[in-house]
Amino acid sequence: MKVLVTGGLGFIGSHTVVELQNEGYEVVIIDDCSNSSEKVLDGITAITGKRPLFEKIDLKEKSKVEDFFKRHTDVQGVIHFAASKAVGESVEKPLLYYENNIGTLVYLLKELSRKSKSSFIFSSSCTVYGQADTMPITENAPVKAAESPYGNTKQMGEEIIRDTCKVTEGLNAIALRYFNPMGAHPSSEIGELPIGVPQNLVPFITQTGVGLREQLSVFGDDYPTSDGTCVRDYIYVVDLAKAHVVALQRLLGGKNKTNYEVFNVGTGKGSTVLEVIKSFEKVSGKKLNYKIVDRRPGDITSAYADTTLANEELGWKAQFTLDEAMKSAWDWEQKIRS
Ligand SMILES: NC(=O)c1ccc[n+]([C@@H]2O[C@H](COP(=O)([O-])OP(=O)(O)OC[C@H]3O[C@@H](n4cnc5c(N)ncnc54)[C@H](O)[C@@H]3O)[C@@H](O)[C@H]2O)c1
Repeated sequence: MKVLVTGGLGFIGSHTVVELQNEGYEVVIIDDCSNSSEKVLDGITAITGKRPLFEKIDLKEKSKVEDFFKRHTDVQGVIHFAASKAVGESVEKPLLYYENNIGTLVYLLKELSRKSKSSFIFSSSCTVYGQADTMPITENAPVKAAESPYGNTKQMGEEIIRDTCKVTEGLNAIALRYFNPMGAHPSSEIGELPIGVPQNLVPFITQTGVGLREQLSVFGDDYPTSDGTCVRDYIYVVDLAKAHVVALQRLLGGKNKTNYEVFNVGTGKGSTVLEVIKSFEKVSGKKLNYKIVDRRPGDITSAYADTTLANEELGWKAQFTLDEAMKSAWDWEQKIRS
């Protein structure tokens, strides 16, 4: 069974390729290496003993996408990770984000619409909920106006897929709304490789721990939470990768209830920034240099998932604790800096 993984050299994509190969799928990766490196293929191969097929293609080049599907008529499922993901950059360069995150999605869906049967998994995000009114957040919580062009591409992406599924017989899709992915493969062969200053908390913490950054700024300690810092739902990337495999299996096995479904992928547990720092200090045995600074505009107070739907429908549940995920992130950071 051949599966196309776009963005398969990236952080979440590479971990998903590992889980797919472990389950016996034949994987072909498309990536343009705009935010990754071909070296990731070596890591995947070291873990699984099998080198996935790889084509260096920029999905913005429509003719190359068409040509790919002509050559790989046996692709039965597509997991679409490829996208630009820096929220701040998306505010500066909205058209880049609309072209890369929406244009590429449209090209892929056009190709899949030509097939008699196809399965599509989309990387969405909990950002679609904004600051939800109630916690934990269920899939029925309203989608709030996006705070950034990046967030908007996730909302629009979901709508484009839903509209396309409505009129395309044979196309079945699942959007997975990720909460806060973190960590690295336990082998330390693959992990998160942020270019420049990390956008996410955990790589910022581990880079500070290893001495690459001087200090972590904690944005605000006067939020209405247990210790005043913001609450997020940190999901271990290996758990997240496994959610993609079970979502794909659901579609390939015809187990889906409608031809477009949405699932939250989180742990169901919220952690404050200070709890995440404590977890780092516990697993690393190091004190982290951090300081509390003013709130950052645009940050929401709290977001954590109700994962009942994924638990019941996908038979999936996060297995790893925050400490276990943090240890993998720390091991990875030390390995790449050594
Ligand atoms: N990491 C997170 O915190 C997070 C949270 C929610 C949703 N997501 C979404 O999950 C997906 C994967 O995220 P990630 O953290 O693994 O990001 P990543 O940047 O590590 O991976 C994305 C990959 O896509 C590739 N890519 C980008 N544009 C491309 C193009 N035009 N053609 C071919 N390849 C292209 C990049 O080179 C990279 O390897 C993205 O869609 C992202 O928006 C990520």
